[in-house]
Amino acid sequence: MSILVTGGAGFIGSHTVVELLDKGYDVIVVDNFVNSKPETLDIIKDITGKDFKFYEADILDKEKMDEIFTENKDITSVIHFAGLKAVGESVEMPLEYYQNNIAGTLVLLNTMRKHNIKSIVFSSSATVYGDQGVPKYTEDLGRGKTTNPYGTTKAMIEKILEDLYFSDNQWNICILRYFNPIGAHKSGLLGEDPQGIPNNLMPYIMKVAAGELDHLNVFGNDYDTKDGTGMRDYIHVVDLALGHINAIEKMEKTKKGLSVYNLGTGNPYSVLDLVNTFEKVNGVKVPYVITDRRPGDIAVCCADPSKANKEMGWRAERELEEMCRDSWNFAEKRYKGM
Ligand code: NAD
Ligand code: UD1
Repeated sequence: MSILVTGGAGFIGSHTVVELLDKGYDVIVVDNFVNSKPETLDIIKDITGKDFKFYEADILDKEKMDEIFTENKDITSVIHFAGLKAVGESVEMPLEYYQNNIAGTLVLLNTMRKHNIKSIVFSSSATVYGDQGVPKYTEDLGRGKTTNPYGTTKAMIEKILEDLYFSDNQWNICILRYFNPIGAHKSGLLGEDPQGIPNNLMPYIMKVAAGELDHLNVFGNDYDTKDGTGMRDYIHVVDLALGHINAIEKMEKTKKGLSVYNLGTGNPYSVLDLVNTFEKVNGVKVPYVITDRRPGDIAVCCADPSKANKEMGWRAERELEEMCRDSWNFAEKRYKGM
């Protein structure tokens, strides 16, 4: 019994592979390193003391994907992380995003169907809710209006998966909508290290604290929130990774079905909460300047995670302090060689 993990060298994928190996699963990783590095695979092996199969392949490559499923008859489920994820880049390069994310998923699903593997966990995002102006998103609210091609690929793939299930209910499909993953592995060896200037808050804070960037731009302090800055549901990447184990375990029990779960903590924090907590727990300074709002941002985005708790027995356990500590532990090693 093996779990095939697409995008397993990436930020969330690598943490999930660690947890799968720790739980005794056999793992096969497929990645083309478009946004990750081969060293990550060795780090996973060092952390877990376990080996796993790896294919350097693009999920768009039909022949290669067919070969992988032909060679590995023991694959029982797929966790599908592989995708491009930068919102701004997706606005500039929509065709590349639709090609990679949508066409890549279609190749994967076609290959799975051909080999009669009908069990998949898909990495979706809170972005599919759009701005529905509610304090917490529940899965039954449904998808809202997406504001960029990246988000649209997630919404479209969710729809494709629904249509697939309705055409053949032997499929077992679990859609996970992630809120804002941050943090890093306790070892400080795995984490998120975007190239160039980061778009997302925590990677930006990490670079400012390390002295690589001068200051953080806080995008607006006139939102209708406790301190005027945007609020999000930050979730530790290890809690998120563990959510995939719960999903796989639930799917092994239920055998078929289509389900959607939010993976978040249910506790929103503001930009300034993050800055203050990061400074406090790590004893570093994060200078910031208040600037204009970022176009497309919303005031608050927070999960109601109770469905995942009720149906999969999953709950995020790591607090904001731990997320900030683990992020900095990773950043210090990465940027300061400590
Ligand atoms: P990441 O970029 O670190 O990981 C994605 C991995 O997929 C990378 O290793 C990349 O090289 C690989 N990849 C991309 N296209 C590929 C292809 N065509 N063939 C083979 N490999 C390919 O991103 P992440 O943060 O780990 O995100 C994983 C998934 O979760 C993505 O689908 C992302 O959209 C989704 N997601 C991420 C977040 C977030 O904030 N990180 C939030 C919601 C959803
Ligand atoms: C981003 C993505 C979203 C994705 C989500 C998951 C964008 C526009 N949206 O959303 O599609 O699903 O990540 O991780 O990228 N902030 C600053 N200064 C910065 C960076 C961010 O003040 O330099 C603020 C933002 O205004 C926001 C908060 O920090 O209030 C979080 O921002 P970010 O980390 O980019 O995540 P999201 O906007 O939630």
